[in-house]
Amino acid sequence: MNLRPRLKMAADMVRSGSRFADIGTDHAYLPAWLILNGICNSGIASDLRESPLENAAQTLRVYNIEEKISLRLSDGLDCISGDECDDIVFAGMGGTLIKEILERTNWIKDKSKRLIIQPMSHSEDVRIYLCENGFEIIKESACVDDGRDYICFCTEYKGSDCKKSGLYYFTGVHPIPGNDASKRYYDRQIKWLNTRCSSLDNAGIHSEEYYYLKNILHEYEVTQNGKS
Ligand SMILES: C[S@@+](CC[C@H](N)C(=O)[O-])C[C@H]1O[C@@H](n2cnc3c(N)ncnc32)[C@H](O)[C@@H]1O
Repeated sequence: MNLRPRLKMAADMVRSGSRFADIGTDHAYLPAWLILNGICNSGIASDLRESPLENAAQTLRVYNIEEKISLRLSDGLDCISGDECDDIVFAGMGGTLIKEILERTNWIKDKSKRLIIQPMSHSEDVRIYLCENGFEIIKESACVDDGRDYICFCTEYKGSDCKKSGLYYFTGVHPIPGNDASKRYYDRQIKWLNTRCSSLDNAGIHSEEYYYLKNILHEYEVTQNGKS
């Protein structure tokens, strides 16, 4: 079975031999790939709704791997316990939702676990939550899939101060040199910051958010001047 580049990017961050939990699994393609490729021996494929879990069950039947993957109806990590999994994947969901799931689950603050996050939007929400709660982002990647750029990162709990700058929250380690998707993601984030800041300015809304974003754009300009 082949995974699309977006899911392959997330699967590549799962540690060999770990017990995974794939949150918001839908068709369970990523869990199936991990089992079929011998990366993991067992794991959980979980979703908020019954119908995606029916899709998942169908995938497990097709590949004859029902014994290896446990299907779980769960809102985020609410019905999953910390002693069931090591590496937890959140792919294809918005960053704000992922952040909300993480902030209500205390057991993720465990140095032996790894969170693998592939947000479709608002990646800054997850980065802010992680870095302000003792997690370090240890690896980031980007890819183009069907003409769209996607990012993924993985993080582990360190328990120490991992706070970073505002620009980091919006762009992470991007642009990664020589990586087209990473550059596209970076440019998109900077464009979003400029657009949001200008629209607040044009509407005369000089709020806390406005000054926060303006400072980030200033930080960006300083890094650009440093390069020239
Ligand atoms: C776009 S699909 C992503 C499927 C797969 N992970 C991927 O990346 O291709 C999003 C899935 O997340 C599920 N979902 C949404 N909110 C959720 C939550 N709070 N907890 C668990 N799953 C959720 C949806 O039901 C849906 O199946």
